[in-house]
Amino acid sequence: MNFVEYVSDRTDDAKSKEILNQALQQIHRIKKIVSNMLVFGAQQSRSNRQLPGARGYPAKLAAAGGELRKNGIQVEVDTADDLPAIRCSADSLQQILINLIINARDALADNRQPVIKIAARPIEGMLELSVTDNGPGIPQEIQTKIFDPFFTTKPPGKGTGLGLSVTRRLVQDVGGSIQVESLLEHGCCLRLQFPQA
Ligand SMILES: Nc1ncnc2c1ncn2[C@@H]1O[C@H](COP(=O)(O)OP(=O)(O)OP(=O)(O)O)[C@@H](O)[C@H]1O
Ligand SMILES: [Mg+2]
Repeated sequence: MNFVEYVSDRTDDAKSKEILNQALQQIHRIKKIVSNMLVFGAQQSRSNRQLPGARGYPAKLAAAGGELRKNGIQVEVDTADDLPAIRCSADSLQQILINLIINARDALADNRQPVIKIAARPIEGMLELSVTDNGPGIPQEIQTKIFDPFFTTKPPGKGTGLGLSVTRRLVQDVGGSIQVESLLEHGCCLRLQFPQA
């Protein structure tokens, strides 16, 4: 990833830049799949492992927004700077956000005014995080299946169906929970609660 970025930064040739950016996107895709596989394959639950509070995660939320704006998606980040620390590790939080945000981005592929809202707020000893998109939403009949490993509605090669199952596992490992709220034709909201550190 670093080598491709390095070369991309140093070329002025538009065609080369385009190809290198495609390579970079595919490397990101591979990285996401491997990270999800590693969590899925881990036999032992990591719930009793001591995790540091994710310091600076408001900055992570903001950074996640920056990536999407490059895709022409309007991103609204609604978070305070003084959010409470949570027990989730920074790496896990990153993986959770990537999975939710890529799902939202995929759902917005045919949307002419795509919007993703990322919000974080403290409630009753928990930190609530939500990612909301204005895509097609999730049909009622599959809402119970989306957290199952390998459940996907995406074409072969596009989705492995591990994203939400791994996300739920990572959240549950630190004593949190995740729910889906979906309004058909109006979009989808994934809502997560993390215990405060
Ligand atoms: N924001 C969303 N809007 C509409 N449907 C969604 C959204 N998020 C998830 N889904 C549905 O839930 C399914 C499962 O999601 P999950 O992230 O687990 O797997 P995936 O995205 O298909 O593949 P992977 O994440 O492994 O690349 C998706 O295939 C899609 O049908
Ligand atoms: Mg996914």
